[in-house]
Amino acid sequence: MILQDKKILIAVTGGIAAYKINLLVRRLVTEGAEVQVIMTPAASAFVSALTLSTLSKKPVYSDFYSENGTWNSHVDLALWADLMLIAPCTANTLAKMMHGQCDNLVIATYLSAKCPVFIAPAMDLDMYAHPSTRQNLEMAQDFGHLIIPAETGELASGLVGEGRMAEPESILQSITDYLNIFNDLESFSGKTVLVTAGPTYEAIDPVRFIGNHSSGKMGFSIAEAAAARGAQVILISGPTSLQVRHERIKLVRVTSAREMYEQVFKFYDHVDIAIASAAVADYAPATVAAQKIKKSDEHLTIELVKNPDILGEMGLRKKSQFLVGFALETENEEENARGKLQRKNLDMIVLNSLSDEGAGFGKDTNLVKFITADAVYEFGLKSKKAVAADILEFIQKETLK
Ligand SMILES: Cc1cc2nc3c(=O)[nH]c(=O)nc-3n(C[C@H](O)[C@H](O)[C@H](O)COP(=O)(O)O)c2cc1C
Repeated sequence: MILQDKKILIAVTGGIAAYKINLLVRRLVTEGAEVQVIMTPAASAFVSALTLSTLSKKPVYSDFYSENGTWNSHVDLALWADLMLIAPCTANTLAKMMHGQCDNLVIATYLSAKCPVFIAPAMDLDMYAHPSTRQNLEMAQDFGHLIIPAETGELASGLVGEGRMAEPESILQSITDYLNIFNDLESFSGKTVLVTAGPTYEAIDPVRFIGNHSSGKMGFSIAEAAAARGAQVILISGPTSLQVRHERIKLVRVTSAREMYEQVFKFYDHVDIAIASAAVADYAPATVAAQKIKKSDEHLTIELVKNPDILGEMGLRKKSQFLVGFALETENEEENARGKLQRKNLDMIVLNSLSDEGAGFGKDTNLVKFITADAVYEFGLKSKKAVAADILEFIQKETLK
């Protein structure tokens, strides 16, 4: 019973799908979870606080303070929760969450929450498809939230399309899947994990650089998964818009490969596990122009010099660390990855290839193989969060051997 004693905070907002929340609360309580419901003022037109408080066996809060002047502390509510679910999440609440527009108890609680946040959007098909909703959902994903996508079917408006909130059973499934992934919360306790993430930018002049399309999503997912399992994490990231909020993650932002090199070796000797997922530039301009280079001749030649080989150096200096590298290959994938594994003295290499649809740079999913000196493990297409969990589970098994 993965849900036993889990503290689930459900925020209900003003959409027609709110009626389905009664069933979800009932199911969660039956599974042994402690459920606390909060509502936006608009939600009360769609579902009754009395029903929800009866089912959850707790008072339902909707205002910042009660009639007798007592504060309904959004901070306490947020910190109490192991997991927060906003369901149904209206277009309005989603937009406010993404921009910190804090005018009700739900948003204040959300902004104070440090736990994983699930969002189950529900709206009419055109609202769901609107660029502003799409952008807000993407932003929510970049914040590290988990979106339970709306389903396709008949909508309350009479229209048919995508926008129906996922059914209570599939919301329950998403939550239990997630909790199962992070079940063994203490498995990395006492361990220090170094993760590198994102691209590096190599300056050409004050305004231009050589970079790559790495989003950092894989590295950030690994850092979050390791922290969720009890590790102290040092996340060294190249330029990315991703944010991280976990008390056990120390985020160090760098720009160039050389800066990443310096930061990595400040920590490397003292970590137990190092996972190098950053897409580090192999070369950087030999000189950085002090002023913006003007357009003049037909051709411009930029001399490049080799950057320090961070992963190679990690392999050389390795003592007891478990060292994981990543390979993104476009040809002879397994052979090249295996070569990198040996050359850089890695314990495991995660191979993903650009030729696989849905995998690699900027995507939310990855299709990977884990390669060690004596075995290859293949996985299906998964979310980067699930791949992160697989990587940690693998390291845990290997280091316990
Ligand atoms: C009958 C009715 C159904 C609605 N259903 C939805 C919905 O499914 N999704 C949505 O985003 N907004 C829906 N709205 C609009 C929201 O109720 C409105 O944007 C409200 O301000 C949301 O407030 P909240 O986000 O603070 O709960 C609906 C409005 C009405 C009157």
